[in-house]
Amino acid sequence: MKTNFKKEERLLKVGVLGCGLINQAAHLIGSAKARNIYLQAICDVAEDLLRKMAAIYEPDSIYTDYEKMLADPEVEAVIIGIGDQFHVPCAKMAVEAGKHVFLEKPMGVSIEECEELRDMALSRNVMLQIGHMKRYDPGLQYAKQFKEEKMGEITTYKGWYCDSVGRYTLTDNVMPVIYSSEAMKKPAGNPKKVLDHYYLLGHGSHLFDTALYFMGPVRRVSARYVNRQSLHSWLIDCDFACGAIGTLDLTVAIAQQWHEGCEIYGTGGTIFAKTFNPWEFRSSIVECYDKETDVCSTPAAYDGQFYRRELEGFADSVLNHTPCTGATADDGMMVMRALIATYQSVHSGGAWINLEDVKGAL
Ligand SMILES: NC(=O)c1ccc[n+]([C@@H]2O[C@H](COP(=O)([O-])OP(=O)(O)OC[C@H]3O[C@@H](n4cnc5c(N)ncnc54)[C@H](O)[C@@H]3O)[C@@H](O)[C@H]2O)c1
Repeated sequence: MKTNFKKEERLLKVGVLGCGLINQAAHLIGSAKARNIYLQAICDVAEDLLRKMAAIYEPDSIYTDYEKMLADPEVEAVIIGIGDQFHVPCAKMAVEAGKHVFLEKPMGVSIEECEELRDMALSRNVMLQIGHMKRYDPGLQYAKQFKEEKMGEITTYKGWYCDSVGRYTLTDNVMPVIYSSEAMKKPAGNPKKVLDHYYLLGHGSHLFDTALYFMGPVRRVSARYVNRQSLHSWLIDCDFACGAIGTLDLTVAIAQQWHEGCEIYGTGGTIFAKTFNPWEFRSSIVECYDKETDVCSTPAAYDGQFYRRELEGFADSVLNHTPCTGATADDGMMVMRALIATYQSVHSGGAWINLEDVKGAL
């Protein structure tokens, strides 16, 4: 279906894999609204869910068999929103079929499988972008540019990502109704039950990717973790390759509103950013203090639909043969290394773990 949101002459024809929460709430509607994407196909093994989504979004084709969608010559790229454990195997199949891939975060579950996927995508010359959507938050994008242009030498990064005990009260209010099916394909053994793994992969990936976006590679981490009742809290010290020091706070869940943001100190200025629950679709509120002018700037940043913006960025790169503007495979792997290093540090009494030594999985 071609909606009236289309602004470009040439649209990227995508196939969406998965009709679960993320694709219902973000990537199906994002594909329909993106200025440069045509929703060519949808695939899910759960046929009832697939037909429900097809009735709303009217793709040209629907598939219960992923291999058949990959064999569709009209599908140029796939958007993959399925369980973490399935990410890399399904992304590799797409790369094998010569399709460009937009892959939800976290990139995978082990360093080795992510490396294989990255190398395969490189050798087949297909675009592989990881769904760290905060890179398309226009408030953070403004702050990043300010940092590059005005802040001189950066000394310090503080980042926090604290889920709220009121999270579902908020998300139930603002998210669309999410449909499910008995026939949905889920990873074996319910990985969501192992809470420290699940929170690190699910939430920690956002915390580290935002740090990486602003500061570049993390060299090493030292982490502590405490769990009382349903409150899980990690405090993570990190050294960045650029020479700055950092501290990160991942907490699920605090008795307060959603609490996410960062502060960055540089010799030429300071950034403060307050980020909202993503389902509110609000850009971060950023304050950028410029030492030279003594002026603090805050962009209006009206378009907080970063899920749609990340798909548009992906399509722009594919259509124009330009570099990825979001998280690359190397960024996705750096996040994976940081998460595993955090886990390893906690389990070795807070020892410093070098990211380049990290192997395996959580
Ligand atoms: N970026 C974000 O803010 C954000 C938010 C939520 C979830 N996510 C990520 O999105 C991903 C998906 O999460 P979800 O909650 O939507 O998952 P889900 O399990 O609810 O839905 C996945 C769907 O994909 C289908 N599926 C899986 N493998 C398939 C296959 N091989 N062939 C056909 N259909 C298949 C399943 O049947 C299911 O309907 C996760 O990796 C999660 O971390 C990201």
